[in-house]
Amino acid sequence: MRIEGATTLVTGASSGIGAAVCRALADAGATVALVARRAERLAEIAAALPPGRHATFPCDVRDPAALAAALAAVRARLGDVDVLVNNAGIGRYQPFVETDAEETAAILETNLHAALHLTRAVLPGMLARGRGHVVNVASIAGRIGSRNHAVYCASKFALAGFSESLVYELAGTGVGVTLVNPGIIATPFFDHASFARFPARARRRAIAPAVVAAAIVRAIRRDRIEVTVPAHYAIGTLLKTLAPALFRRLMQRNA
Ligand SMILES: NC(=O)c1ccc[n+]([C@@H]2O[C@H](COP(=O)([O-])OP(=O)(O)OC[C@H]3O[C@@H](n4cnc5c(N)ncnc54)[C@H](OP(=O)(O)O)[C@@H]3O)[C@@H](O)[C@H]2O)c1
Repeated sequence: MRIEGATTLVTGASSGIGAAVCRALADAGATVALVARRAERLAEIAAALPPGRHATFPCDVRDPAALAAALAAVRARLGDVDVLVNNAGIGRYQPFVETDAEETAAILETNLHAALHLTRAVLPGMLARGRGHVVNVASIAGRIGSRNHAVYCASKFALAGFSESLVYELAGTGVGVTLVNPGIIATPFFDHASFARFPARARRRAIAPAVVAAAIVRAIRRDRIEVTVPAHYAIGTLLKTLAPALFRRLMQRNA
């Protein structure tokens, strides 16, 4: 769909991929509603965007009432949302048995429930207007699985399933949906203490969040159903589908 002049809402806008997506959307001529918890970070990101009606809406996406209030404020200030980017997310790199109920809830509510609540809230308007786009930022880990990431992968596999299913429900409506599978991206995502165990050689392969942001803008324009960034990581998904036993042997060996 056409991004120029669109009203866009980006969750997780205060950092990493979300901040880069805000910049890319604003550069493409969109109005951006920036959503995350840290108001000061949001204000800094918004201040660095090209001129426009961009505005910040500090909100904890784990709180459905706060999310509904933020969306109402976006509508009142910037109008109906044409493009929703469900990007807010957290991860923990630790064995499943070390992940307690509180952390499990935090990961599922941030990565999955918030996306479901927000999408449900904006879709009726998009369908009525026959125009809109929903972007779900999942992960390559949400396509293939990964050790020490069980709850994170559960949230991202679910987000992928949600996105894949919406494709069929929305066909022919004028509303598109894109599943985004980032690989390893250089962001503060890895700052949580649990990532001290994350392999350093994998971190060295990290690419800039701007590359993911550019892919998201392209995907919205071209109405792409799924994009993997960097693209060659999609080989893993393909191999897992075509030769699952071989794929799992390779994953065990490289762990
Ligand atoms: N970095 C990678 O290698 C990688 C790979 C695959 C997928 N991803 C996915 O990409 C997305 C963005 O991650 P990133 O790498 O950019 O990480 P990041 O730099 O840590 O950014 C995460 C964003 O999510 C927001 N957020 C977290 N909890 C929130 C909450 N309860 N309410 C509102 N906002 C919340 C944070 O804002 P506040 O703290 O201000 O609330 C922040 O803006 C995530 O969904 C992540 O799973 C990342």
